[in-house]
Amino acid sequence: MTQATLEIHLTDEDLTAALREDVRAGLTAEPKTLPPKWFYDARGSELFEKITELPEYYPTRTERALLERVVGEIAQVAQAEVLVELGAGSAAKTRLLLQALTSGGPLKTYVPQDVSVAALSASAEEVASEFPGLGVHGVVSDFTATLDNLPGGGRRMIAFLGGTIGNLVPQERAAFLGGIRDVLEPGEQLLLGAGLVIDPAVLVPAYDDAAGVTAEFNRNVLHVLNARLNANFDPEKFAHVALWDAENEWIEMRLEAAEAMTVTIAELDLTVEFAAGEQLRTEISAKFRREGLESELAAAGFATERVWTDPDDRFALVLAERR
Ligand code: SAH
Ligand code: AVI
Repeated sequence: MTQATLEIHLTDEDLTAALREDVRAGLTAEPKTLPPKWFYDARGSELFEKITELPEYYPTRTERALLERVVGEIAQVAQAEVLVELGAGSAAKTRLLLQALTSGGPLKTYVPQDVSVAALSASAEEVASEFPGLGVHGVVSDFTATLDNLPGGGRRMIAFLGGTIGNLVPQERAAFLGGIRDVLEPGEQLLLGAGLVIDPAVLVPAYDDAAGVTAEFNRNVLHVLNARLNANFDPEKFAHVALWDAENEWIEMRLEAAEAMTVTIAELDLTVEFAAGEQLRTEISAKFRREGLESELAAAGFATERVWTDPDDRFALVLAERR
């Protein structure tokens, strides 16, 4: 018996239709690209959880330690009745927020949202059993498509943790932040977790770990294309590449073809040629400066209330109010 409910605004058919469009556009473009949301089938979500435990991947443990330190202050300022979390995944760190917002605070409802039904159904159930008095309403949707499906029902705080904001290209980021502003009422809040620009000697290994878990996560997008679109990629013939783009201040993940290949995507009736050494961009992970974050938030209609950073200035939590 569980108290969690799950609203599916993105069915399996919707996902396949969206993937078809992204693959046709991305693999016929020059250079080839794919959006990072396609990493996250059940296996991809599991691989991401493994990444969060790697010694090189500092963001998750840094954000967790920061949350542990400041969660009481966040709860006091927020006084949220509804916590909506975008890209919630396993919601591991969210437990800290939920604890603080429920103990003595007015929180009644938690709305985890994610594109990965596998990750979301598991975490919604777990949270519901850990927090028996809390209403848990999971929403399966794409946060880059629409935020209209998010329930209200009280003073809201929208959390977007983990640095996932960095996986959006600048144009998408502006549209996304504007979309959040539009669904919030004046005075409601956004809690944003964002990775900061740090030494590439620390950054790059976080995206190119010695155990090869990130490489497998990267190649998972090809497994997703094989499964959903009946493509015939040989993922092992693509090498994982992670590099720091100093001009754009983002990590770029790519898959590099080990040899010339012709790949067929049967569902699309599409044949795609890869030259030996050709690279397909699968993700950016932008890192931020405090001023940049505040000005992007201001441009979207938010006033920054508080910014907290860890002692090494690797990660920031920003609490911003919808004006
Ligand atoms: N918030 C968690 C998980 C981060 S991983 C943390 O901080 O550890 C990124 C999450 O965002 C994954 O669960 C993935 O499925 C989800 N995601 C990625 N792109 C998405 C999109 N376009 N719409 C909704 N969820 C998305
Ligand atoms: C989900 N997101 C914030 C992760 C990141 O760090 O950009 C995804 C990831 N990609 C490679 N490792 C982790």
